[in-house]
Amino acid sequence: MSKEHRVLTGITTTGVPHLGNLVGAVLPAINASEQKNTTSFLFLADYHSLIKNFDPDSRHKSSFEIAACWLACGLNPNNVIFYRQSDIPHIFELAWILSCLASKGLLNRAHAYKAAISDNEANQTKDIDKGINMGLFNYPVLMAADILMFKANSVPVGQDQKQHIEMTRDIALKFNHHYGEILVPPEAIIDQNSGVLPGIDGRKMSKSYKNTIPIFSETEELRKIVMKIKTNSIAPGEPKDVLDSIIMDIYKAIGTKHKIKELKQLYEEGIAWGDAKKILFEELYSFLQPYKSEYDKIIKDKSFVEKTLAEGAEKALSISEPIIKEVRRAIGIKGF
Ligand code: TRP
Repeated sequence: MSKEHRVLTGITTTGVPHLGNLVGAVLPAINASEQKNTTSFLFLADYHSLIKNFDPDSRHKSSFEIAACWLACGLNPNNVIFYRQSDIPHIFELAWILSCLASKGLLNRAHAYKAAISDNEANQTKDIDKGINMGLFNYPVLMAADILMFKANSVPVGQDQKQHIEMTRDIALKFNHHYGEILVPPEAIIDQNSGVLPGIDGRKMSKSYKNTIPIFSETEELRKIVMKIKTNSIAPGEPKDVLDSIIMDIYKAIGTKHKIKELKQLYEEGIAWGDAKKILFEELYSFLQPYKSEYDKIIKDKSFVEKTLAEGAEKALSISEPIIKEVRRAIGIKGF
């Protein structure tokens, strides 16, 4: 295997691309893809979307929109291997192999599963596993397969995904322990500045909470969403705590250092929440505008998006094929 550094990340294809995806995954991944001596893998985790979404049309639409989003945000398909997870069957083969190494106890501790259980507990549901499918439970294993399939060294993800990368390391080490040094335990790369970007209600920005700021909103829609951001009841004229404000948290993820400093000053001076929202809206608008105009062009050309992904799949398969062969041999699945 070549010794270059491999960076890999993916986005689950549900919903429309939102600001949390943009600052937490897409932009850092695109930045990383421009570094020399790295090979970047960027993919649409379309099979991950099966866990929650049972509507084929919305999955299809969302895959397309997310692909167009990455291209619009500056991804250069010549710099990176850009593909759909579903085009790489080896990932699913590896996922089964890994699921036979991952202990159930490890997966019991996964945040998403634990959250689903505690919802059931809170609702005093008799069966605490109610509504939880095996896809949700196994999610971290499929994610481990995405990463280990390509021997990725680093994985830029949001803070919320850190646990999944730790599980991936665990599973890789277990594989290597039993079958020899084949898989590469990856490092998570967390953008410390953005951390977990809050949504408009203050919980993590997530399609499942319906609290997102879609990147490609029309202007008026964007304004409305920003105006809905939750604030506290501190009155105009009274100083506001910069550490306790969703508006500020979002602003920090997109504003320049200088602008952030200015807004902090206004907080101290007691800016009214409505005015802080206006400032955030203006900044968001100009931050997103260049991406949106590119996006509007790209979505008119579906065959360009399709061709780009088909080429990406070919490159990805040329890497996954020898690795899955190596894995099969190592586990004793080979010709007689
Ligand atoms: N679980 C990630 C998310 O929502 C998406 C994902 C799937 C991923 N497979 C991955 C990210 C592999 C990084 C690496 O947001």
